[in-house]
Amino acid sequence: MGKLDKTNNCFQERSVVFNRNLSSFQVVMDQIRGLRFLGQARTCRVVLLMVLVVALVLGLQYFELAPLSIVSHGNGNVSEFRESNGTTKSAENKTFLASQQASSGFKPYNSTTKVLKSIEHKFLNDSPKTEASQRSRGNETTSSVHSLQPKNPRIHKKHEESQRNIKKPPLVVISITQMNNMLWKRHNDPKNSLKPRWGSKVDEELKTARDKIKNAALVKKDDTLYAPLYHNLSIFKRSYELMEQTLKVYVHAEGDRPIFHQPEAMMEGIYASEGWFMKLMESSHRFLTKDPTEAHLFYLPFSSRMLQLKLYVHDSHSRRNLVKYLRNYIDLISSNHPFWNRTLGSDHFFTACHDWAPAETRGPYMNCIRSLCNADVGVDFVVGKDVSLPETKVSSAQNPNGKIGGNRPSKRTILAFFAGNLHGYVRPILLNHWSSRPEPDMKIFNRIDHKSYIRYMKRSRFCVCAKGYEVNSPRVVESILYGCVPVIISDNFVPPFLEILNWESFAVFVPEKEIPNLRKILVSIPVRRYVEMHKRVSKVQKHFMWHDDEPVRYDIFHMILHSVWYNRVFQTF
Ligand SMILES: *[C@@H]1O[C@H](CO)[C@@H](O)[C@H](O)[C@H]1NC(C)=O
Ligand SMILES: *[C@@H]1O[C@H](CO)[C@@H](O)[C@H](O)[C@H]1NC(C)=O
Ligand SMILES: *[C@@H]1O[C@H](CO)[C@@H](O)[C@H](O)[C@H]1NC(C)=O
Ligand SMILES: *[C@@H]1O[C@H](CO)[C@@H](O)[C@H](O)[C@H]1NC(C)=O
Ligand SMILES: *[C@@H]1O[C@H](CO)[C@@H](O)[C@H](O)[C@H]1NC(C)=O
Ligand SMILES: *[C@@H]1O[C@H](CO)[C@@H](O)[C@H](O)[C@H]1NC(C)=O
Ligand SMILES: *[C@@H]1O[C@H](CO)[C@@H](O)[C@H](O)[C@H]1NC(C)=O
Repeated sequence: MGKLDKTNNCFQERSVVFNRNLSSFQVVMDQIRGLRFLGQARTCRVVLLMVLVVALVLGLQYFELAPLSIVSHGNGNVSEFRESNGTTKSAENKTFLASQQASSGFKPYNSTTKVLKSIEHKFLNDSPKTEASQRSRGNETTSSVHSLQPKNPRIHKKHEESQRNIKKPPLVVISITQMNNMLWKRHNDPKNSLKPRWGSKVDEELKTARDKIKNAALVKKDDTLYAPLYHNLSIFKRSYELMEQTLKVYVHAEGDRPIFHQPEAMMEGIYASEGWFMKLMESSHRFLTKDPTEAHLFYLPFSSRMLQLKLYVHDSHSRRNLVKYLRNYIDLISSNHPFWNRTLGSDHFFTACHDWAPAETRGPYMNCIRSLCNADVGVDFVVGKDVSLPETKVSSAQNPNGKIGGNRPSKRTILAFFAGNLHGYVRPILLNHWSSRPEPDMKIFNRIDHKSYIRYMKRSRFCVCAKGYEVNSPRVVESILYGCVPVIISDNFVPPFLEILNWESFAVFVPEKEIPNLRKILVSIPVRRYVEMHKRVSKVQKHFMWHDDEPVRYDIFHMILHSVWYNRVFQTF
């Protein structure tokens, strides 16, 4: 486990040299293989040979090669940005934007600092987070006691045995607006849901809850929930209350440790979400029931990371035994209890943060509500049924959220920040475009040390969350906790709590093919809008924080459970 296998090593060393041609190479590699998921044995030599051949032929023609995207942004904000080459029509303020653009001929972004200062009082003075940010700012330079590398070196090597078969850009790109439409459709069309084989009182309870949520009393303002963050505050508030009042979860007792029922080993690192959720779910006083006949949901308590650590055969490039292990489990519970058969698993759910989890949970698991970090609507994530699990990087189980906070807008002097390994096809493109440009306000790096990483997050206006090997990245939650507006460059990534949160109100979604326009897009966001987004980011933080022992209302544990509950309720007809 301690060492990368040879293929990986060779590829990673060379990838620095070849990263220029990597993207076109990957496109072709994938076309040749026509396979996206199964790890394939490729020796270093074959890979290098192909890189050379392909590189020669294709050179830097990545963008000609980029497949046709069926981008229909609807009336999403992104489509405005895409025209930001001078003909921009902004819903916000045409005059302001025009002047921004006239003056944005790659001037340092700090020219707007004065404007920012005057606006931020208005927006931030009533924000309790301002004080918190300032407090933590004093500590900023001495924070970061945790190294980026978790103590357990295995945890960080996300892809140590992973296939080198890196995905290509998706053929179909689905915008956030479209995802929201998919969600609505799924929740309003009885054809999409499985009819239970026999009735149960829980179905009636769920239908009642559904009616109550749909007829929620209008809530315009709330002391703890900041209305602009949500698609519909009234709906969320009502649904959450009903969850607290009604929801009962039955945890299947079957399953052997350590893959099942053992969260303790999974509380740190980038897959920690599944450990934290399992621990809090299995010890929940409020939601657990021992009587399966009163359960609205059945929890399958396994860890996809532990599954990989314990069962993956080094260098085998095969996940067959892992899939088999999980299928045996379904055979076991479906023969032990009638509950699986009643709905064919559609009232069962699990949380899984490892990249392989989507591929491991096809077949019988496809009916389940799958809560996945790797939430890729371009693969087989079903919006409205499945739930996007936030990937949280936990450095210390004693302090799962780290030292959150960051500078106020006027003290954020860097326009955009990114740092990370060159995983996947997007990051090499990002770095090729932005790492060596003259604009000093674009801080786009390869991997940097953790202390600097945190400092940049606290001092930047926008933090780029670029897709790695897969669509998800711990940067989304990190950005939020450090008060940096997330800029998500990961086509088809379904952001967490899509059911509830209006992501476009506090994050920027940049299509992968717009990477060359990244700076233009960010500069064209009016200062007033930026300050508003920054405030919303600080308001949304509580939904992304873990709490030990006793989870707190509206925290990340409850939000994950709420999304599962919400999809369950709205798929009951
Ligand atoms: C801006 O881009 C749009 C389409 O992307 C194009 O039609 C238009 O001519 C461009 N305008 C300028 C000034 O480059
Ligand atoms: C748009 O911005 C300009 C310049 O900042 C300002 O004078 C004008 O009042 C704004 N218009 C609206 C509708 O906010
Ligand atoms: C903006 O930055 C430039 C150089 O980076 C500096 O010369 C200038 O004084 C700065 N302006 C403000 C308003 O901070
Ligand atoms: C720094 O953080 C520690 C705890 O993390 C806190 O006790 C201390 O008061 C903080 N210092 C400042 C200057 O905010
Ligand atoms: C939110 O949902 C409630 C209940 O369905 C509805 O009455 C209200 O109009 C919705 N609000 C918005 C802003 O869509
Ligand atoms: C559930 O269905 C499967 C296959 O249809 C069957 O083998 C199993 O015995 C059923 N379980 C129960 C508890 O009836
Ligand atoms: C852009 O996003 C903001 C915030 O969610 C929203 O108010 C606005 O209507 C959106 N613009 C369009 C054109 O959809």
